[in-house]
Amino acid sequence: MKLRFLPLAVAVVACHKTASFTPSATDVGFPSSSATGAAVYSGDRRAPSFPDAWPYKAGRAAVFGQHAMVASDAPLASQAGVEILEHGGNAVDAAVAVGFALAVVFPEAGNIGGGGYMVIRMADGRTAALDYREVAPLAASRDMYLDEQGNLTNKSVVGPLASGVPGAIAGLTTALAKYGTMSLADVMAPAIRYAEQGFVVEGPFARSLTSNARLIGQFGGAGVFLPDGKPLAVGTRLVQPELAQTLHRVAEQGAPGFYTGKTAQLIADEMHRDGGIITTEDLARYKPVWREPIKSSYRGYTLLTMPPSSSGGITVTETLNILEGFVPVPPFGSAEYAHVLGSAYQRAFIDRNEKLADPAFAPVPMKQLTDKAYAQKLRATIGHDRATPTSSVAKTMREGMETTHYSVADAQGNAVATTTTLNALYGSGVYVRGGGFFLNDEMDDFAAAPGKPNMFGLVQGEANAIQPGKRMLSAMSPTIVLDRDGGLLLVVGSRGGPRIITSTSQVILNVLDQHMILSDAVSAPRIHHQALPDSLAYERNGLAPAVLDSLRQMGYGLEPIGGVGLINAIMRVRGGYEGMSDPRSMGRPVGY
Ligand code: GLY
Repeated sequence: MKLRFLPLAVAVVACHKTASFTPSATDVGFPSSSATGAAVYSGDRRAPSFPDAWPYKAGRAAVFGQHAMVASDAPLASQAGVEILEHGGNAVDAAVAVGFALAVVFPEAGNIGGGGYMVIRMADGRTAALDYREVAPLAASRDMYLDEQGNLTNKSVVGPLASGVPGAIAGLTTALAKYGTMSLADVMAPAIRYAEQGFVVEGPFARSLTSNARLIGQFGGAGVFLPDGKPLAVGTRLVQPELAQTLHRVAEQGAPGFYTGKTAQLIADEMHRDGGIITTEDLARYKPVWREPIKSSYRGYTLLTMPPSSSGGITVTETLNILEGFVPVPPFGSAEYAHVLGSAYQRAFIDRNEKLADPAFAPVPMKQLTDKAYAQKLRATIGHDRATPTSSVAKTMREGMETTHYSVADAQGNAVATTTTLNALYGSGVYVRGGGFFLNDEMDDFAAAPGKPNMFGLVQGEANAIQPGKRMLSAMSPTIVLDRDGGLLLVVGSRGGPRIITSTSQVILNVLDQHMILSDAVSAPRIHHQALPDSLAYERNGLAPAVLDSLRQMGYGLEPIGGVGLINAIMRVRGGYEGMSDPRSMGRPVGY
C-alpha cells in the first residue's frame, strides 16, 4: 500500500503549537486529521488494508487536540474532563471528573455503585496503579449461588445478591487526593450540574434503555428510566435529583459521604428489602489499594498496565512477550498473523484462567507469567502452521461484556487510563432508592462453582472462589505505553469482559508493529482467543474469506462474533494528541 505524504500535513502541523513536553524519537507522524478530513500517513505510519466487507474504512480522521485530550464513551463526560483541564486541572483531576460525569450521563456502565482500575503516569516519571475493585461482602460464601442440587443460579447476575461492595467513590477520591490538584467539589461540579440540571437523552442512551428495560423494570430505577413503563425517549431531559444529592454528600464529605451516613444506610436498606447482604459495616470497611503497575517492555517500548486483582495487565504482557519473538511479525490481516496472535492469546489465557486471582487471597505467579524466558518457552509450543488444541484447562471466565474505559492526557504529558464497570449493563439492575444509582453485579466475576462447569459449561478455578472481603478477578486492562525514549505514546483500554484484554492489546500492536495511525489501529478488525471455548473468534467480516480458509486448514475452529471490545484511546502525535473512540461505540473524544 502506497504511503501518502501530503504537503497539506505540514500546513496542519505548522498551525499547531508544539505540546509542552519534549518530542521523542518515535515517529508517530502528524495528526491524522487534515483539513479535508482524510487521514495523513506520515512518519513511519502506514495505511493498512482491511477486508472489503469490513464496515469501518481505514483513513478516518481522529480528533486532534494540541494541548490535551479526553476519550470516553459519553461525549458529555469527555467534555467534563476538558472543562477541568481548561480550568487548569491535570489529567488526574480530569479523569476523576470524567468518572463522576459518566455515573450521571452513562448509567449503563459509568457508576458510583461499581468499581474499577486506574493506571497513572505523571510527566515527572511517577507511576501508580489504583485498584478500586469491588469486594465480596462479609456475609458472602463460597457456594452462595448454588441451588440445593449444586447448580448455578442466576443470583450472581441479577438482583441484590449479585453486588460486591462498591469501590468507585473510594477510588476516585483517593486518586484525586494523591495526584490531583483541584478540590473534590470542583472536579465533581460538572457531574453535579448534569444531575441537577439534566441532560438531553440521545439515541444511544435511549436504545440502551430499550434493550435493558426488562432488567431495569424489575427494580427501583423503573420510575426514573422507564416513566409510565416506557424507556426515556430521545430528546427527553433527564434530571436526577437523588443522584445529585448523593454526589453533593461526597463533594462535601469525601468518601465518608458515601461509605457512612445517609448513602451507606440507603444502600443497606435497599439490600435488606430484597435479600441482599451488603451492610453498613461492609461499606465502612471498603479500602482501595495502591499497587505497582506492571512495567514491561515490547520491542523497546514500555508498557505500564494493571496488576492483579485484574488479570488484564499480566495477560496483555504475557501475550506481547510471546509475540515479541516473531520477527518480522506477519502482516496485518494475514492467516499467519491471526495464527500467531491467536496462539499467543490462547496460551496467556490458559495461565490467566488457572492462576490469577486477588493476590491477598491466592498466590499469584506474577514474576513467572511476565517473564520473557517463560514466554519464549510458550512461543516454542506454537506450531508453524497448525492450531494447537487447548488442553486440560481448568477454568475460563464468564465476565460481563460491559464496562467502560476512558483515557486522559494533559499538556504536561500526565496520563491516566481508567477502566470502570458495573459488570453487566446497569449491573445487577438494583437501583438504590433515595440514592439514585445502580449497583453492580460483580460477584459474577468470581468462580461461583469452582471445579464444576458453570452455566456456560465452563470449569472455573479455585483460586478465584468466593471469599468474604476478596476481590473478584477482572480482565480490565487500562494501559499506558511509552515510546523508546520514555515519552508518553499511548493511553488505551477497552470494555468487553475477557475481550478487554484482546482488544486493548491489538490496538497497541497495531500502532507498534503494524505502524497504523490511531484511527486505523482502533477501527481495524480484531480477533479473540480465550483458550476455552477452543476456537478463534473473529469480528464478522473482519477476516478475508481466503484467510478464513487457510485458518480452517490449520485446524482452527472459527467463530464469527459481533465485536471484540470498545476502545477509547489517545496517542501523542507531533504537535499534540489524537483521540479516538471506537467506531463500534457511541463514544467521542474531546480535545483542545
Ligand atoms: N466485569 C468485567 C471485568 O471486570 O473484567
